[in-house]
Amino acid sequence: MPSAPNDACSLPLRSRLCECASWKTLLAHHRSAGPVDLRAAFATEPGRATRCTASGAGWTLDWSKQLMQPGTMPLLLALARERQVPERFAAMLGGARLNWTEGRSVLHTALRAPVSSSIPLDGHDVVPGVHDTLRRMEHFSNAVRVGQWTGATGKRIRHVINIGIGGSDLGPAMAYQALQPWRTRELDCRFVSNVDGNDLAIALGGIDPEETLFIVCSKTFTTQETMENAGTARAWLVSALGEAAVGKHFVAVSTNLEKVRSFGIDPDHMFGFWDWVGGRYSMDSAIGLSTMVAVGPDHFHEMLGGFRAMDEHARMSPLESNVPVLMGMIGVWNASVLGLPALAVLPYDQLLARFPAYLQQLLMESNGKRVDDHGDTVSWPTCPVVFGEAGTNGQHAFYQMLHQGTTVVPIDFICFRTAAHPIGRHRMLLNANAIAQAQAFAFGHTADEVRAQGTKDALVPHRSFPGNRPSSFLWSPALTPASFGALIALYEHSTFVQGIVWGINSFDQWGVELGKSLAVDVIKGLEDASAASTHDSSTDALIRALRANSV
Ligand code: F6P
Repeated sequence: MPSAPNDACSLPLRSRLCECASWKTLLAHHRSAGPVDLRAAFATEPGRATRCTASGAGWTLDWSKQLMQPGTMPLLLALARERQVPERFAAMLGGARLNWTEGRSVLHTALRAPVSSSIPLDGHDVVPGVHDTLRRMEHFSNAVRVGQWTGATGKRIRHVINIGIGGSDLGPAMAYQALQPWRTRELDCRFVSNVDGNDLAIALGGIDPEETLFIVCSKTFTTQETMENAGTARAWLVSALGEAAVGKHFVAVSTNLEKVRSFGIDPDHMFGFWDWVGGRYSMDSAIGLSTMVAVGPDHFHEMLGGFRAMDEHARMSPLESNVPVLMGMIGVWNASVLGLPALAVLPYDQLLARFPAYLQQLLMESNGKRVDDHGDTVSWPTCPVVFGEAGTNGQHAFYQMLHQGTTVVPIDFICFRTAAHPIGRHRMLLNANAIAQAQAFAFGHTADEVRAQGTKDALVPHRSFPGNRPSSFLWSPALTPASFGALIALYEHSTFVQGIVWGINSFDQWGVELGKSLAVDVIKGLEDASAASTHDSSTDALIRALRANSV
């Protein structure tokens, strides 16, 4: 995107999306152009795949199977321009308080800024702090990896347990799976997030406290689930090794020094980050400490290089070939113009098995909003329901519905040419499945074709496929720490683009608060049978039914 002046804190309030001329033009185009038939679109335009392909930071996006006319994307890009996507992106990179409902800057891109760069925020350059923390993480990770940092009894650390939830869990857990081929075999990492004691009990199963290191990850260090899990883990350790052992078995990643200290973790063993890093944008901050311990500082830096490459691509490329902008605008088209309510993310690589879960928070916590910057309820659909599964497993689970169900679900396919574990024909078969599925979703199988295969009339409707189910195909030569980092940054930025177009704040998450605060009273009811019944009849009945001492 061409750079724009950093107008940081004085960004004008945008007009509402529905008032934008380019939005009205886009809707008129949709009405007049009518539904797209992908078979016809490919037949009449042999160069469609070439026209609808763009590359950046090692990733290639083929969006030719989206339900778009040749004139659609130019109109979407005109909308992106009118919504000032490039200017807002530049403002974000410069520290603008885009998260205005919380009064915060949005500077996760500073987490991968080169050491030679400078990003002033309120008169203070944030880059040196980022690199100081990275150096402390490197020192600590190396010490754990080579056995120089030991447990209290001198034993080498063999198990690292990351305790956190949401952004303090999903990114690191996903990265640990994705970067398996690069991890040391000297130790394993486990991830505990759910307040359900089963989660912690399973993670602690069969491991030796003397060889176990807990990384308590919480931006606030107040999150109920994390604090409960950390407290129980601490008690488990103390019962085995005594109170004095805590210092060698617990470190923290947080912005809250006081809470970390009062938990009993030495502030020297705390790795900080900043209020300008949102939880779901934090996996490349110190929240990624478990990732660095697992794969080592060099690979962690390769990952940061991939993030940085995509940041640069997003910043510098014209909108027509800007992969995050194209992906963001495809999402706007599908959700807000076509009214398609879901997005399936289908990574054809087992290493990305946790990627859909990670994306659920990134996309749905960021853009699952119904009120715009003006405080008005929007009249256009925003974030779709995001779900997914690694291919080919999904094919044997929910693809039936995707192919023949009544709801059309847009799809992101994600593929790599080569495999981290190149075994026999496996990668070729995997990729053949991905390509064939994209083909089947787009072009279907008509009743005439089914009949021509000799199918009995009664079965023809059941065996035909409507097609015209839109998908994008995103691929990279190989899954490496760098291409992985670039993929995450790609989705971060396409999420940003959508939030800007929709006119919502992608960086707050007030929607998680109500349930948390209501739980306070429910806890009282579950713990104390004599507590007054003050809720609606259903809530009171459920409390009575689920109280541990109920009969
Ligand atoms: O789900 C709400 C949320 O605030 C997320 O945004 C965040 O990632 C998660 O809780 C965990 O928060 P913390 O890191 O402060 O424990």
